[in-house]
Amino acid sequence: LKSLRNYFGLEGKRALVTGAAGHLGRTFSQALAGLGTELILLDRNEEALRSLAGELEKEHAVSTLVLAADLADDQTLARAVDLVSAGPGTLDLLVNNAAYVGTSDIEGWAVSFEKQKLPAWRQALEVNLTSVFALTQACTPALRLSPMASVVNIASIYGLLGPDWSLYDGTPMANPAAYAASKGGLIQLTRWMATTLAPAIRVNSISPGGIQRGQDPAFIARYEARTPLKRMAREEDLAGALLFLAGRPSSYITGQNLVVDGGWTAW
Ligand SMILES: NC(=O)c1ccc[n+]([C@@H]2O[C@H](COP(=O)([O-])OP(=O)(O)OC[C@H]3O[C@@H](n4cnc5c(N)ncnc54)[C@H](O)[C@@H]3O)[C@@H](O)[C@H]2O)c1
Repeated sequence: LKSLRNYFGLEGKRALVTGAAGHLGRTFSQALAGLGTELILLDRNEEALRSLAGELEKEHAVSTLVLAADLADDQTLARAVDLVSAGPGTLDLLVNNAAYVGTSDIEGWAVSFEKQKLPAWRQALEVNLTSVFALTQACTPALRLSPMASVVNIASIYGLLGPDWSLYDGTPMANPAAYAASKGGLIQLTRWMATTLAPAIRVNSISPGGIQRGQDPAFIARYEARTPLKRMAREEDLAGALLFLAGRPSSYITGQNLVVDGGWTAW
């Protein structure tokens, strides 16, 4: 384990993970803590955050800080900067993972195109895209203090491709336009920030394919049939990509979008 920790170079580093209380956020936080990374955990869901922080400290003996805050609220930025600047004041890794996702319960969101509503579009762009710009900008001074600073933005295959609606037939599921637009924007913002912040800070994105979470069985069957690796993703599938882009193994990679989708976008 010691040599694995050396390989990734993340031991004793400091990371801020947004959406840390969510499915992927938890997996990312656990993977980073397992390599000895100190964590600042940000999410709206305070109870889940506190229980995660307790778990990480107990299982991996890393220190954690918790920020229960809404990324759509301007005051969150100042609170995040305060936490980041506390202690050593250096930030080595920023994981922009929080988002309104396909299953988020917002009016006018995961419904047919005709029923999608402007307030939902605006809220989603605010959290999924605008807050990434704002938080990364606010964290840049602390990232510049790190000798190996990395930003990883969590995008989606729907930032690359349009939805195949035949997967959704007869299910209550849908695929919001604002989700796709925000993730497409995030992939391009990644390239923009990569060249702007180089050589001090690397910026990459990960585009996961659909993760299996008890969706409608008809949807899962169609999704699997369309995927070369014949299954939906699991949270663990994304952890390796995150550790790779966060740490030393990717030190000559910036501005890239790593697609982790079982081959969904390969044909
Ligand atoms: N689940 C998938 O199939 C899938 C596929 C591709 C990409 N992704 C991306 O992976 C990332 C994580 O998704 P997930 O599946 O773990 O979703 P999730 O809903 O389990 O987690 C998202 C977390 O973000 C938090 N969050 C949302 N809005 C927030 C706000 N305004 N302020 C602070 N926190 C906020 C939520 O509280 C939640 O804990 C997202 O960026 C998502 O778009 C997911």
